[in-house]
Amino acid sequence: MLPEIRQQFQQYLGKEHEIAAAPGRVNLIGEHTDYNQGFVLPGAIDKKIFIALAVSTNNRLNMRAIQYGEIFSYGLDEIRPVKGWPTYLLGMIHMLMPEKRLPYGLDLVVAGEIPVGAGMSSSAALCSAFGLALNERFQLGLTRMAIALAGQKTEQQFAGLQCGIMDQFASLHGKAGHLIKLDCRSLQFEYIPFDFTDHRIVLVNTMVSHQLASSEYNLRRQQCEGGVFRLQQFYPEIKSLRDVTQAQLLAHQEQMDPTDFMRCRFIVEENKRLLDGCVFLKEKNLEAFGRLMYASHWGLSRDYQVSCPESDFLVEEIAKIPGVKGARQMGGGFGGCIIALIKTDRVDACISILQEKYQNQFLKTPDCYIMSISEGAQML
Ligand code: GLA
Repeated sequence: MLPEIRQQFQQYLGKEHEIAAAPGRVNLIGEHTDYNQGFVLPGAIDKKIFIALAVSTNNRLNMRAIQYGEIFSYGLDEIRPVKGWPTYLLGMIHMLMPEKRLPYGLDLVVAGEIPVGAGMSSSAALCSAFGLALNERFQLGLTRMAIALAGQKTEQQFAGLQCGIMDQFASLHGKAGHLIKLDCRSLQFEYIPFDFTDHRIVLVNTMVSHQLASSEYNLRRQQCEGGVFRLQQFYPEIKSLRDVTQAQLLAHQEQMDPTDFMRCRFIVEENKRLLDGCVFLKEKNLEAFGRLMYASHWGLSRDYQVSCPESDFLVEEIAKIPGVKGARQMGGGFGGCIIALIKTDRVDACISILQEKYQNQFLKTPDCYIMSISEGAQML
């Protein structure tokens, strides 16, 4: 944690405070599969959100975000959805506290390193950090999975995004040097080492904020559910797209709504890519893994239609640069970052080529981040 942040916490809260930290995430492959009860392959990153909390003197919930210079204050009975970032904190109180309220007021200070709107899950990190802090302060005895599920419900009910469990799960279960293969139906998971020294994970930010994407996101979810509903008429045993094979889908293309069909095709293929991808990773075959990343991107772009011209441009251009194994748009879509696997000794060259091309095309320079896969949320 940066010494400035510690100093600011000290300045606003005084001596007696505790600090929780929770990371954002990357996802190597398996996009939009979580709410279809499929698999995902995230890892926690070395960019975090920090929340410091102390007992308040006015018996209210007072929140300050250093990054935005904003302060909000709520009465203990004012726990309901609001606009902006405080809704995540109010949501976690609603989901986790026994009486859906705090027994006494708290002062909270939030500081963040995760770029907002870049598809690195800053909101999930906020929920995870606060959930952990509440669990600790009020001795709630919750598992990390219970906190993750509360974060997901908060996103759904307090922020209106009908998200899956990937982001909150990854923020709470991250392990340094490991990706996590999560089965979003059973919630069983497996750590897969990602300890390549000759390759790095690099994020390239389109600088297009995905803030407005939630209505399209929710629509994708409905379209997938529409596809499942139709397929169940032929295969009653199907519960989600997780259960659908490519052959079953193709056999009923004519009877399906064409848009729903494209959405379902992407999900069925993406799930398969993830399963194959995990095998390639264990075999240390990054060439093959990288090819799956490109395939994932073009599926997201053409079938799932959650990409944007900026992401497509970056993936198209990066594919031409020597030393790049694979790349694709990451997260919910409509901007945010692309994630790329690049040979370590080519990272700097690759970033400068890409930044120049992007600058020429879109008149802005993409921020680039070289990631390391880190530990999940913790009390400091
Ligand atoms: C967002 C959601 C996740 C997941 C991804 C797409 O990050 O919060 O649950 O659906 O989009 O894979």
